[in-house]
Amino acid sequence: MAGSPYGKAVAGRASYMVLHNTAEVVTPDATGTRIVRYPRGAIAFRDGRVLELGSGTDLLRRHGDARPINANGRLVTPGLVDCHTHMIFAGHRALEFQRKLAGESYAAIAAKGGGIRSTVNATGAERDDVLEKSLAARLERWRANACTTVEVKSGYGLTPSAELRLLELMRGAVNRVPVRVVRTALLLHALPEAYQDRREVYVAEMIERALPEIARREFASAVDVFCDPVGFTVDECRAVLLAARDLGLAIRVHADQTKAFGGAQLAAELGAASADHLEHATADDWRALAAAGTVGVLLPAAALTLGLKLPKAKLLRASGARVAIATDFNPGTAPAQSLLECATLAARLCGLTAEETLMAVTWNAARALGLESQVGHLNPGAWGDAIAWECERLEELPYWMPAVRPDCVFIRGADLALPSVERRAWP
Ligand code: NIG
Ligand code: FE
Repeated sequence: MAGSPYGKAVAGRASYMVLHNTAEVVTPDATGTRIVRYPRGAIAFRDGRVLELGSGTDLLRRHGDARPINANGRLVTPGLVDCHTHMIFAGHRALEFQRKLAGESYAAIAAKGGGIRSTVNATGAERDDVLEKSLAARLERWRANACTTVEVKSGYGLTPSAELRLLELMRGAVNRVPVRVVRTALLLHALPEAYQDRREVYVAEMIERALPEIARREFASAVDVFCDPVGFTVDECRAVLLAARDLGLAIRVHADQTKAFGGAQLAAELGAASADHLEHATADDWRALAAAGTVGVLLPAAALTLGLKLPKAKLLRASGARVAIATDFNPGTAPAQSLLECATLAARLCGLTAEETLMAVTWNAARALGLESQVGHLNPGAWGDAIAWECERLEELPYWMPAVRPDCVFIRGADLALPSVERRAWP
């Protein structure tokens, strides 16, 4: 995981404290098996980590030396984890969205030079400092929307050198903000014009040029691919993912989005950390994910934009798979800037309970990033990343629209006011 220069200062500011007077503290248990609720609960933080979780009266008595922080009768949960975003890009595709609404398909727009390639052109033409700054600003917006851990994918570069440029800018942006960021290299997203008749050359260059450089410079901890008729074949994806896995990188798959295409089965076969989208995945596919321990990530904003259906909760429960929900934030299919907003949509479209919805944006999302021992829950030893919400009950989270706002966002046990942090990040 990428560090942040704010980390030490943040931990130092609030080395020992008790967050108390909550309506309830609600968190996944340490193994992500169930949601545990502590009415009028409290959390003790020390050195940025959770020390203890339990009843308010007990904790206040036992941690008499700790600085008390009053939660003012709010609901407290772990900080949310957005495990799938494409946040580094320039421009927008609002005009293309109008064409989509008028009936033009994603594939047809892409075939006419729109879609991913138009964002690639805009991103390629943008200055480094502007891209880096806009990514940092977006991460701050995510923090204001209760996300304390955010995954960011490259993917709007396409050529090996353009992808490496984005990954390097991502590393720069991450160091400007007090948000935990996980960097992923999205290496097979769209075939660049220059490689139109040389697909195999492109895939080989990704394996031979991009991957070793990414591993050597620690540009990313995971590699992702777009396994889809408008993206890359199962065999092309397998080749890149196997090479990534050999280098010790985690692997993830954009799977079965626009068609049933074998992406979920590939993710299961290779033991991927996650398979994402899955609008066309079958019950068999979900069972394969469950058996492989691969998290299935639902992206409701993209499904809505493309007019696709999300799976029903009954099918998900029967499969036994872990389910996460993410924004998929990108300019084409998911201009969605609030993870909780996406979760409220998924709760409605799939029929998920409030507890399942919370699990999907905390422990399960952390698991998709390989961080479940550290974030996505508030058990002893985890980072003190927590949200005090402007509501009292868990059931309010997937209920209100627009989504409930966080009152306080704690990172490593410290409540950094957003405006002052923005001043520090933007001299
Ligand atoms: O996750 N599916 C591929 N990639 C993005 C869309 C990218 C775009 O349209 O710019 C997604 O939905
Ligand atoms: Fe995506």
